[in-house]
Amino acid sequence: MTQRFPAPQAETLLRWYDRHARTLPWRVSPDDRARGVMPEPYRVWLSEIMLQQTTVAAVKAYFQAFTQKWPDVMSLAGADEDDVLKAWAGLGYYSRARNLKACADVVAGEHGGRFPETEEGLRALPGIGPYTAAAIAAIAFDRPASVVDGNVERVISRIHAIETPLPQAKPEIRERTAELTPQTRPGDFAQAMMDLGATLCSPRQPACALCPWTDACRARASGTAETFPRKAAKAAKPTRRGMAFVAVRDDGAVLLRQRPRKGLLGGMSEPPTSVWAPDAATDDLSLAPLQLNWRQCLAPVRHTFTHFHLEMTVWRAAAAADVAAPDGHWWSTPEALGGEALPTVMKKAVAAGLGKD
Ligand code: ADE
Repeated sequence: MTQRFPAPQAETLLRWYDRHARTLPWRVSPDDRARGVMPEPYRVWLSEIMLQQTTVAAVKAYFQAFTQKWPDVMSLAGADEDDVLKAWAGLGYYSRARNLKACADVVAGEHGGRFPETEEGLRALPGIGPYTAAAIAAIAFDRPASVVDGNVERVISRIHAIETPLPQAKPEIRERTAELTPQTRPGDFAQAMMDLGATLCSPRQPACALCPWTDACRARASGTAETFPRKAAKAAKPTRRGMAFVAVRDDGAVLLRQRPRKGLLGGMSEPPTSVWAPDAATDDLSLAPLQLNWRQCLAPVRHTFTHFHLEMTVWRAAAAADVAAPDGHWWSTPEALGGEALPTVMKKAVAAGLGKD
């Protein structure tokens, strides 16, 4: 006999959200929204860009630092791109930071400092794709947009026990989300879906007994919630290898340079590195930026990017106080080092070179 399931109701989730909404620095509580308070679109946009591929826990401190430094879109538009990259250092996916600045410039220059209110208008801006446009339209402007992130994919695929694997299941999940999205409180609904996915409907060991939609959930009924969403097998990531050269001057200054604006980690800073390739040399000292007495650090630095693993041997050398930085390089003093636009992988390399790993 096939079991019948009640359709999930948006109101049921909203009642749960009214009691359990997470308090987040960019969020207006459901109580305040009910009183007519709306979040600033700038803060919604900034938080959504930061939260792509990054956890709430990692984002909070960056969000606070950014909004202190640049409290509105006009001040961010007036910022220097290099300062934005420095403030973003450690968050990853650095094209987001470059697009952030480009988007602020367009909103300031072409929209009088006001974000467009429609998904279509938002999508025309740098760095804003379909997900982010829907999230901003819903959360900042209460438009009934279908906001589908990884959390929502998990919730919806479980409720309907969708057997089609991701990414092929995306259109079906989008449709199911659209039919659930209410005309009233769509912004709270979008945030409620995210909270449900982030707290109860977690990837492992979901707390189904506490879920407001437990009766409507097909995966829950068959005890298989944890196995959804189905996912197509991913191709294995290749490993690229390379070298990083950490020259340390007598006063503790470290030699850095800026990566090309375009490409991976574009515009970010680094100690000089070799090219990265699966069969690249890991001990070719002719690649070093200066002729010094280079010594290999014990452990290589490992880091995983979207499409490959990286393994870099780290080489360190002491340099006398009068060694000039080669063209395009600079000596970063111990006081300046913490504020440099060093991505996490390069922070690891510098730490290894300074013997701090
Ligand atoms: N993940 C993506 N957007 C989010 C938001 N606005 N609140 C909480 N988690 C999120």
